[in-house]
Amino acid sequence: MRAALLTGPNAPLEIVDDLDVEDPRAGEVLVSVKYCGICHSDVTVQEGGYAVPAVLGHEAAGVVEAVGPGVTHLVAGDHVMLTPLAPCGHCPACARHEATACPDALSFSMNSRPDGTSPFSRGGDMVYRGLGVGGFAEQTVVSASGAVKIPDDIALDIACVIGCAMQTGVGAVFNTAGVERGSTVLVMGLGGIGQAIVQGAQIAGASNIIVSDPVESRREFASGFGATHLVDPTSDDLAAAVADATGGQGVDYAFEAAGRAALVEQGIESTRVGGTTVMVGASPIDENVTINAAVLFMTMQKRLVGSLLGHCWPDRDIPLLLDLYRTGRLDLDGMISHRLGLSDVNEGIRRLHDADGIRTVLDLSA
Ligand SMILES: NC(=O)c1ccc[n+]([C@@H]2O[C@H](COP(=O)([O-])OP(=O)(O)OC[C@H]3O[C@@H](n4cnc5c(N)ncnc54)[C@H](O)[C@@H]3O)[C@@H](O)[C@H]2O)c1
Ligand SMILES: [Zn+2]
Ligand SMILES: [Zn+2]
Repeated sequence: MRAALLTGPNAPLEIVDDLDVEDPRAGEVLVSVKYCGICHSDVTVQEGGYAVPAVLGHEAAGVVEAVGPGVTHLVAGDHVMLTPLAPCGHCPACARHEATACPDALSFSMNSRPDGTSPFSRGGDMVYRGLGVGGFAEQTVVSASGAVKIPDDIALDIACVIGCAMQTGVGAVFNTAGVERGSTVLVMGLGGIGQAIVQGAQIAGASNIIVSDPVESRREFASGFGATHLVDPTSDDLAAAVADATGGQGVDYAFEAAGRAALVEQGIESTRVGGTTVMVGASPIDENVTINAAVLFMTMQKRLVGSLLGHCWPDRDIPLLLDLYRTGRLDLDGMISHRLGLSDVNEGIRRLHDADGIRTVLDLSA
């Protein structure tokens, strides 16, 4: 089958037509991927430090082709959303419904099954399944717990953005932060993740949503999703904008969604006494966050929390996100600015680098 393959650090993805996929093992499903969005995390893997060759793509939706032994909740023909963190269902973290702390789920997301194997191969050699899904291939095999059945009338080209952007962004607001009605929120970085945070904050009833991104078109998109104050960090004073919007208090919640450790520090500075900074962006591994100890104590009492995939539990949160979409409160269509065929995947990655639009969705049959 056809797939886009990462063969080395910073290499453009190579379109091949001879990728093999195994039959599903016990607890797995074979899925025909129909659509897959491109996320910055794909680019981070492309930049190096991960096993290759690999099939990236982790924001996908498709149709079940076959189920492995023991899979009872899905049958061939079911429409499914795929999630990058498929919970094992029986470890202590899963008992707490924390898929993002499940060791198996974390292992899947690091490009292979927990036993180190992959369902993909080429000419007999193993090909890794990037970020738990392998959505830049016409077919993939995933853990059945990572495939959530969705109603047939939900368009798969729209639904796919739930897989990463909406789970991560809306989940960070609902699950990680627990933003309350009337809260003030700051969002730094307005790619697919930041826009989803803005949408989540609007649904949660935030009164002020301050957004910051150097790209004007992205600030405008955020305004359409409910942002109330637009900041250009290259020319405006973010601290002054936050003070203006919050009567000098600082925001209740700050979200870092650009992947820069320095912005986490800016988030901590921007929050009120007792406010919460949520780190959603994936900063480079060699960047550190420096916090003065006093901010966590006495007069400051601030909180800093990391958020992986919005602390989502797929069977609970994917149906919730679909309900919000059906009832017109979550805008998925507006998240998709470009659509391309699989063979144009590198053009989609270029758009992401250029912050052109929001999400590019690949059509695996084109
Ligand atoms: N926590 C998770 O589970 C999770 C999931 C998916 C993605 N991510 C990470 O989230 C981040 C965002 O992903 P994306 O797909 O939206 O990326 P993106 O590249 O589409 O968007 C990043 C945005 O940050 C903006 N930016 C850069 N410098 C900035 C600054 N100084 N101030 C404000 N904005 C700035 C860019 O202009 C761009 O619009 C990445 O680091 C990605 O790896 C994390
Ligand atoms: Zn992602
Ligand atoms: Zn588990």
